[in-house]
Amino acid sequence: MKVLVATEKPFAAAAVNGIREIVEGAGHELALLEKYTEKEQLLAAVADADALIVRSDKVTADVVAAAKQLKIVVRAGAGYDNLDLPSCTERGIVAMNTPGQNSNAVAELALGLMIYMSRNQFTPGTGCELSGKTIGIQGFGNIGQLVAKKAVGLGMNVLILAPQPAEKHQGWNTVPTIEELYSRCNFVSVNIPATPETKGMIGYDLLSKMPKGGCLINTARKEIICEEGLDKALAERADLKYATDIAPVAYAELKEKYAKQIFATPKKQGAETAEANINAGLAAASQIVNYFATGCTKFQVNK
Ligand code: 3PG
Repeated sequence: MKVLVATEKPFAAAAVNGIREIVEGAGHELALLEKYTEKEQLLAAVADADALIVRSDKVTADVVAAAKQLKIVVRAGAGYDNLDLPSCTERGIVAMNTPGQNSNAVAELALGLMIYMSRNQFTPGTGCELSGKTIGIQGFGNIGQLVAKKAVGLGMNVLILAPQPAEKHQGWNTVPTIEELYSRCNFVSVNIPATPETKGMIGYDLLSKMPKGGCLINTARKEIICEEGLDKALAERADLKYATDIAPVAYAELKEKYAKQIFATPKKQGAETAEANINAGLAAASQIVNYFATGCTKFQVNK
């Protein structure tokens, strides 16, 4: 079988080597399409692929249609909003993700962004410490749980937005509503997927509930934030802050207006560590090899 790794933002070399060992070790062929710039390159490369590994690369309906032999696509990462699942399902293509494999890298970045914003984006001036502050966790999955544990290590109080499966937040303090989470927390870390239900859900109403100096940290997806509401909240309160790993559509304009209040990484780098690349990349390769060998669909997201 031909396994194609198509990554506009490539994996670390060690991850690619590991993927190759797994794929070729199982008797399959590996093809690489890295740092591609045009969709046509992806459309051409998928034509004879039996399996596909991607990161945030968009596997849209036309990509699925061009991949005539495709049997399985694995998003090496958590969020699979870049996969057109109905198209995959229609063709009987198994779609998977690799949950948890890059969570630590994302959680560490969330903490880094909190420190960066608390220290005025490393510009002169008096900042504040995280110790003794309260952080709210919106989304208590693999990433949210790690952010919470690390925040405790920094001396922070942690509040989790319920409801969550009870066993997950045992021992943690919870709040029943999202409004309470935002009104009680100095920081909120957003760790939820972009779905029709979550898109645009954080806007003016929630942001303006945050206490003085409140800071929202978004390492999830830009679509979760209502940009109009963000703009209004930042304009109304110069003490509010927003740091994100996924720049808003109107970032240049927002940065111009609210330089001290807003920060976005130049390119999404939550999962940009060698460790996360290796964990997610190797997991994706193993899942494909395992699927071809045994039919295992453990991480299938289009069941
Ligand atoms: C994920 O959903 O796993 C993260 O957003 C990582 O995305 P990336 O692989 O494009 O860095």
